[in-house]
Amino acid sequence: MKSSLKTAAALLALLLLLSGCAANIPADTTDAPVIVPPGPGETLPVPETAAPETEPAATEPPETEPPADEIPTFKADLSAYEAYMAPADRDGYLLLVNKTHPIAADSVPADLVYLPQEYAVYTGEWRAQMTSVAAGAYTAMLTELCANGYTDVKSTLAYRSYATQSYLYHNYIAEEMAKNPALTKEEARAIVETYSAPPGTSEHQTGLCTDMHNVYNRPDLELEDFEKTDAYLWLRDNCWKFGFILRFPRGKEAITGYQFECWHFRFVGRYHAKRIYDSGLCLEEYLEQLNKN
Ligand code: DAL
Ligand code: ZN
Repeated sequence: MKSSLKTAAALLALLLLLSGCAANIPADTTDAPVIVPPGPGETLPVPETAAPETEPAATEPPETEPPADEIPTFKADLSAYEAYMAPADRDGYLLLVNKTHPIAADSVPADLVYLPQEYAVYTGEWRAQMTSVAAGAYTAMLTELCANGYTDVKSTLAYRSYATQSYLYHNYIAEEMAKNPALTKEEARAIVETYSAPPGTSEHQTGLCTDMHNVYNRPDLELEDFEKTDAYLWLRDNCWKFGFILRFPRGKEAITGYQFECWHFRFVGRYHAKRIYDSGLCLEEYLEQLNKN
């Protein structure tokens, strides 16, 4: 599968783009507003903030109120991005989509925006998109990544429609069967489902995650090679500051349902990203624990 993910993503984006052919699948932009998120240094629209709190009636603060988290220190000035990295709607980005929590085939996020071109591999209608708050947080993360000297990481694919996911998933099955003709379709499907979500079960359809790495123009390298880079190590240890988590960690395959993916980052907002990072839990485990409390 090592090369499958890379080749199919490249196939999807490049063949359609460069050949200019009439694709069987639509680009994921049909209904997306063409809003380009601001680049570093530009003014950002501020997402809705919580209503000002009224004076509490009780003199004692509720015991369950967690202490406010400190804003991390950054090399770049990311103050304009704070409302994206740590949105006021703290619990509004915990959506769980996986093999047992499907998403409707016609579900399309209302507020998709393109990621800044400097942080996205593909151009035009195949340029990566995320929901607006996640896109702002992604922009902040990549700005800081660059400020730390890692300037070659970009998003390949972020939001994917049901149709695109379906195309990729079935393409992978065909690839596995071509590679090993002894496989039945069910056997090929089982292999594919360790690394690609069946359509309707991919969190890429939420617009809250992105695949990102620095091996997109390195045919000599596999996606997995990103793990060996310092840029990956930086992202692994710092992504929570921007509200992102490594969604499919090593050691959690039986729970997430997928192999370790060093390139797949998911936005949940800083409050929860910090707790997920500190706990070592994957999103499924964290949400289960949260729902118990
Ligand atoms: N590669 C991840 C699991 C997806 O297809 O959504
Ligand atoms: Zn992914």
